[in-house]
Amino acid sequence: MTVKAIQSDVITDIQKGEIPVHVAVIMDGNGRWAQERGMPRVFGHQQGAESVREIVETAAKLGVKILTLFAFSDENWGRPKMEVKALMKLLDTYVLQERAKLKKENVRFQAIGALDQLPEKTLAAVLRTQQELSHCTGLTLNIALSYGGRNEILTACKKLAKKAQAGIISPQDITPQIFEEHLWTSGLPDPDLLIRTSGEQRISNFLLWQIAYTELWFTPVYWPEFRKEHFYEGIKAFQSRKRRYGLLAET
Ligand code: IPE
Ligand code: IPE
Ligand code: MG
Repeated sequence: MTVKAIQSDVITDIQKGEIPVHVAVIMDGNGRWAQERGMPRVFGHQQGAESVREIVETAAKLGVKILTLFAFSDENWGRPKMEVKALMKLLDTYVLQERAKLKKENVRFQAIGALDQLPEKTLAAVLRTQQELSHCTGLTLNIALSYGGRNEILTACKKLAKKAQAGIISPQDITPQIFEEHLWTSGLPDPDLLIRTSGEQRISNFLLWQIAYTELWFTPVYWPEFRKEHFYEGIKAFQSRKRRYGLLAET
């Protein structure tokens, strides 16, 4: 059997089970991966871009509808200037280089986060890609940039408070649905599966509202070496879970 045939067998096997509609990933461990190889942290970020390419392709092949990738957090602004600059440059390069390929693969691209914090050039590249791929109907690639869950919730509260102040909405009419419409993820269903690489088992301010009932899966693999086999492993773990949402299991 060829490698390709084995791969397609694995995919067919996974597709017999439930494919999570929305997968979110905390892509962690770039710096440690590089440092353990005697390389600068930025080298890890560059290699991480390769993993992004492979996982976007794999998620689309499996039939995942939304892939949300945590690329840069609110807190990451506090890292050394050199690293932040290198990350923003990598981001520019990624969105510019991948645009045509994503379009060909029918991938819709969108960014969430405090985007106004991004350098002008990065923001322009992100918005242009978002606009150019807005008509695509395949996988939605949702990149979290300058993103913080607390900031997202607070921003939603401020929008609602302003509407209440202007008499557009009454506080007692604010339902979870209305609240969600004011989040950056408005229109997207909550993640079914959250993957974090690098062995850390924490959320680090990611999608705090949205992961209330998300299945969590942690792997020790550093992001730059995360490949499709690891992604399959995460999906299989998801397929072995019983989601109850606080109710009783079906008998
Ligand atoms: C994840 O890798 C990428 C970003 C947070 C931007 P890290 O840079 O956090 O790498 P580690 O966790 O320090 O190894
Ligand atoms: C989370 O990783 C943010 C991203 C992957 C973009 P961090 O490396 O910033 O998180 P902590 O510091 O380990 O919690
Ligand atoms: Mg980290």
